[in-house]
Amino acid sequence: MPRQILLLNGPNLNLLGTREPDVYGATTLDDIVAQLRTIAIERGAELSDQQSNHEGGLVDMLHDARNWADGVLFNPGAYTHTSIALRDAIAATGLAVVEVHLSNVAARESFRQHSMISPVCVGVVSGFGAISYVAALDGLLRHLDEVAA
Ligand code: DQA
Repeated sequence: MPRQILLLNGPNLNLLGTREPDVYGATTLDDIVAQLRTIAIERGAELSDQQSNHEGGLVDMLHDARNWADGVLFNPGAYTHTSIALRDAIAATGLAVVEVHLSNVAARESFRQHSMISPVCVGVVSGFGAISYVAALDGLLRHLDEVAA
């Protein structure tokens, strides 16, 4: 049975490609999903993707993922910096979550320099544009292998 990976994106990430391309790049979310899906298959895994602009919707998606996903790549967008609810959802589900950011949030405005969710994630990848997701998938699959060994 292939490993099941959820790629979960939060608010405004549906606009990737046209949204502040100087900060977030020209790659669309569809492009990112397609690339990750190909890599996942090469690595013997299956990737599903979900996106919501709503905090509660993201909480529901994490709850549901508890029933079928082995791990989650999660870019919570601006909720990264504000959402105790998302942090609690990750802690409550016990899912292996890797936090992903296109931009280097540590080098941006001070309000982006704190993440509510990092402490409940297995790792964080930030600053490599669309490649952040590729690196995060690699890290997550290696982590899952290590835990299973
Ligand atoms: C982001 C960084 C967040 O601060 C911002 O609110 C986003 C995107 C990133 O991928 O760089 O929406 O998560």
